[in-house]
Amino acid sequence: MRLRLIGAVLLSAAAYYVYLPLPSGVSEPWKLMLLDALFRSFMQASDVAHALGLCHRVHLLNRMVSWVEVIEAHSCSAVHVTDSTLGGVPTRVFQPKKGKKLKRGVIYFHGGGWALASGRMRSYDLLCRKMAEDLDAVIMSVDYRLAPEAVFPDQYHDALAASRAFLSPQVLERYSIDPERVCVSGDSAGGNLAAAVAQELSSDDTLAVKFKVQALIYPVLQALDFYTPSYQQNQAVPILYRPIMVRFWLQYLGADSSLEPLLLANNHSSLDEPAISAKTRSKLDWTTLLPGERKKHFQPIIKETGSPGVVSKVPALMDVRAAPLLAEQRVLSRTPKAYVMTCEFDVLRDDGLMYARHLQDAGVTVTSDHYEDGFHGCMVFAFLPMMSSVGQRSMTNYIRWLDQNL
Ligand SMILES: *[C@@H]1O[C@H](CO)[C@@H](O)[C@H](O)[C@H]1NC(C)=O
Repeated sequence: MRLRLIGAVLLSAAAYYVYLPLPSGVSEPWKLMLLDALFRSFMQASDVAHALGLCHRVHLLNRMVSWVEVIEAHSCSAVHVTDSTLGGVPTRVFQPKKGKKLKRGVIYFHGGGWALASGRMRSYDLLCRKMAEDLDAVIMSVDYRLAPEAVFPDQYHDALAASRAFLSPQVLERYSIDPERVCVSGDSAGGNLAAAVAQELSSDDTLAVKFKVQALIYPVLQALDFYTPSYQQNQAVPILYRPIMVRFWLQYLGADSSLEPLLLANNHSSLDEPAISAKTRSKLDWTTLLPGERKKHFQPIIKETGSPGVVSKVPALMDVRAAPLLAEQRVLSRTPKAYVMTCEFDVLRDDGLMYARHLQDAGVTVTSDHYEDGFHGCMVFAFLPMMSSVGQRSMTNYIRWLDQNL
């Protein structure tokens, strides 16, 4: 009897911890809740360790995620897998064993807020392995340096150095990659790096080989407006809560974490901030850039007076290499054909939708693939044990788009 009572109490406590009211329409809410509870418990343990001065919260979080997820490079019957370096940056390489002599090539940047995860994690390993096999392509998954040790522009420089090496005649030849069929891709913070690298390299006239396509999966692209409709709508939707994204940004830009409340209030981009021109503001003006079904009933939060001076203290907020959404149209017009995947239940949805719109306006051919039941990070949860239906669907469509366009 007592045992049963204890059991019931423990069960309700667990249910209370796991349960989270989610918007109706999100794919498989119970799975997302479990995923969130797992992630939340990691975060809370990291916060406690951080507060006790045991170690930096990001280190413990990364240690736990790695412990659960990192796997050795191992080949299978279809794909040869090795750990190597590309332009001095650690990279896991996936080469199909059979198929055509000349392969297509993809350079991939993993997500994780510029601070977490690795191309050696199981989920990314499985994704790249599947891409290599299904596309008969060589996939290079780059382990750029991470925050807090590395801050902007380190991550960007690693991504750029790896990409330059990837496009070099030596590497293309060594891996039998067709120079006419190369792609840059990434998800979340990796989508940010992929977009920034695509902008830089397509404007570089000294390069003989250019990317044929760019494929961006729920990319993060700007840090001036934390009140886009998607930031407002999804501020409490797992796994990427609005304050967490702000924290990732501050950490990436090497800014003081005490700025968090200020950024969360959009005080940094108030109208009395002279460093933000009207032209820059127009690039973020979602009232004109987004379709009605995404704007919904949401109102812009633009402060008349806020905290001017933050942008001069943290100039990277305005740097296109950190915030590719702010790029000039003439730069965008030279970037390759694009695939932009977005999820309805994701704070970053509107970053992606606005970027797709900018690319289109610049004359780039864009496939905008939107998932009405998608949540941030879903494509990485396409395999057991966290196999999500929208994750599988989005991964299948992503690979199909690459197959048809690369
Ligand atoms: C935002 O700016 C206003 C006006 O300067 C100020 O009163 C408010 O305290 C600021 N909020 C934060 C969170 O810094």
